[in-house]
Amino acid sequence: MPATSPKPREVIGELNALASGATSAQELMEGITKLLHQKMLRYNWVGFYMLEKEGAQDMLVLGPFRGTMTPHTRIPLNQGICGAAAFSGKTIVIDDVSADPRYLACSLETKSEIVVPVFVEKKVVGELDIDSHFLAAFTPDDRTLCEHAAAVLGRWLEKHP
Ligand code: SME
Repeated sequence: MPATSPKPREVIGELNALASGATSAQELMEGITKLLHQKMLRYNWVGFYMLEKEGAQDMLVLGPFRGTMTPHTRIPLNQGICGAAAFSGKTIVIDDVSADPRYLACSLETKSEIVVPVFVEKKVVGELDIDSHFLAAFTPDDRTLCEHAAAVLGRWLEKHP
């Protein structure tokens, strides 16, 4: 394995190829999490949470992921960085999770995190969550890559209602 990650823009082409070959959303989410986890060396946990109704409440439910198991398999929208990103519909980048009181710990090694909402017809349907063992791992280029990955899933879901 090379000692450096490829440039984010090189991975964008591979994400697009995954979307054109996917036969289900589950397959596409598995492909995206595997690709990002393998290729981007500082992406130590990569997973999707998708919104589901639990009674009257919206709940983020853990979907395909790569990395160690997390205790947070269901997250309400008023909890965590994950809840905040889904509630606001905005990407959240946290350079130092220990400085953010919203942070829900998934692993003691996690130092920084990015959460990107997935939109279908402009509505949040889920999100891509990535944790790193390195402080401030998510640069503006990483943000572009992660937003592209989330948009690939959103566009696929729009085309396959
Ligand atoms: N850190 C997230 C919880 C999910 S785990 O990191 C996989 C949060 O604060 O919402």
